[in-house]
Amino acid sequence: MSRTLIKGGTVVTASETVRCDVLIEGEKVVALLGGDAPEPTVDRVIDATDRLIFPGSVDAHTHMEIPFGAATSKDTFETGTQAAAWGGTTTIIDFPIQMKGESLMGSFEDTMAKAAGSSAIDFGFHQIVGDVNEQSLADLDLVLEEGVTSYKLFTAYPGVYYSTDAEVAKVMQWASGNGSTILMHAENGSAIDLLREQAVARGDTAPYAHAATRPAALEGEAAHRVILLAEMTGAPVYIVHISAKQVVAEIAAARARGTNAFGETCPQYLYLELAMLDQGFEGAKYVCSPPLRDPAEGHQAALWQGLSNGALQVIATDHCPFDFEGQKTLGRDDFTQIPNGLPVVEHRFPLMLHAALAEQRFSLNRMVEISAAAPAKMFGLYPQKGTIAVGCDADIAIVDPAATSVISAETHHMNVDYSCFEGMELTGKVETVFSRGQLIVSDDRFVGSKSHGRYLRRGLNQLLF
Ligand code: URP
Ligand code: ZN
Ligand code: ZN
Repeated sequence: MSRTLIKGGTVVTASETVRCDVLIEGEKVVALLGGDAPEPTVDRVIDATDRLIFPGSVDAHTHMEIPFGAATSKDTFETGTQAAAWGGTTTIIDFPIQMKGESLMGSFEDTMAKAAGSSAIDFGFHQIVGDVNEQSLADLDLVLEEGVTSYKLFTAYPGVYYSTDAEVAKVMQWASGNGSTILMHAENGSAIDLLREQAVARGDTAPYAHAATRPAALEGEAAHRVILLAEMTGAPVYIVHISAKQVVAEIAAARARGTNAFGETCPQYLYLELAMLDQGFEGAKYVCSPPLRDPAEGHQAALWQGLSNGALQVIATDHCPFDFEGQKTLGRDDFTQIPNGLPVVEHRFPLMLHAALAEQRFSLNRMVEISAAAPAKMFGLYPQKGTIAVGCDADIAIVDPAATSVISAETHHMNVDYSCFEGMELTGKVETVFSRGQLIVSDDRFVGSKSHGRYLRRGLNQLLF
C-alpha cells in the first residue's frame, strides 16, 4: 500500500489545532506524528510548511443535474464533484428526487446511476419525497436499507414537491420509528403562490418580485409549523437553507425545549443580499429559494450569530447552478419561470476559511465544526469523514492561509457561466486535496479521476439529544 507523509504543517480539526505530520497509508490516516517521532519510510512526502491541514470538507446539500421547471441544473456529478474538490470539499450529499406520480425507489436508482462512476469525490444521498403515498413509504424502507438515513420534504413549491402538513406528519411518524432525520424546505408555499399570482397579474414580473413574494415571515411560519410536527411525531428535523432570522429563533427555541431541531444555512445567505435582485434582469443571477434577505432587517447578522453560538449547526451550499444565458433567461418576461438556485459548491469552504481567517467571524476549529465535523455527524458519517484522526478516511485539504484569490466565472471550475460571488477576494487558498488517500488537486491541476468517488452508506444522526 502506498504511504504518504504530509510534513511540517498544522492540523486543524473541530476540537484541536496541532503541529504534527500526517501519515497516510492506502485510503486511511494511520498516524499523527509529533515533532520527535522518527520519520517513517514513505513513497511520497508533501511539504506542508506554513500550511494548515484540514479534514476534507463535507457539503451536505447539493443538486447535481436536477430538473427545475424547464431547466436542469448545469453541473453533472462529474463537473460538480470536481469543482467541489477544487474548493477542498471531499464529500457531498445530493438528492434523488421523487416527482409527483413517480416511483421513489426508481428516483434513487436513477440518481445512483448518474453519480456512480462519475464522481471525483465520495457521495451520499438524502431522498426527496415528492409524492407521499403508501408505495413511497414502502420504498423508504428500501432506501433506508441502502444507507439513506435522511429524507427531504417541502412546504414550498405547491404542485411540484409540496407536501401537506398531514403528509409531512406521516413521513415524520415513519422516521420517528427508525431514528432517521427529516429535512424540511420550510416556506409557506400556498401563501407564496398567492403573492406570486398577484405580482404577475399586476405586471410585477422582474426578478426582484421573486424575493418580494417570499417574505421572511412565511419562512418563519413554515419552520415553526414543521418543528411542531416534529415534536408531535418525535422525528428529528433539520431545516435546510435558512435565510431568515425568524427561523434561527425557532430552532434556538426548539433546542432549548430539548427538541431535536437542527439548522443549516449557506454562504449566499451570509454574503449576498436582497438588493442584488434589484438590478433589472441581471437580478435573475441571484434567484434562489428562500430568497436573499435585507441585511437592514438583521437576517445575515442572525445567521452569523447562529453559526457561532450553535443555534445553527451546518453550513452547506444548496448548490443548484443554472447558466444565466439560456436558463435564467427562461424567466426574462416572468420571474416565476426563472429556475431557482445558485452555483456555490466550489466556494463554500474557501468562503468559510475567509470568514475565519480574515473576518474573525469564528475560530478555525468552529469553522471545521460547521463545515465538516457537524455535517458528518448529522448524517451518520463521523469519524470516517469530518476529521483527521487515526483510522479515518484520508480526505484532506491543505491550505496556504497567507495566499489570496479572487472568485470569478473566468477561473472557477463549476459548469456555469457566471459567479454570484464575482470579484470577491478571499484570504486562504486550498492548494492540495486528497480524497481517500488519492491526490486529487495539486499544483493548480485536478489530478483525480472521474470514477474515484464512492457511494457512502450512512448511519443515523449522531447529534441527537
Ligand atoms: O433555489 C433553490 N433552493 N433551488 C434548489 C432546490 C431547493 O429548494 O433546494
Ligand atoms: Zn429546498
Ligand atoms: Zn436544495
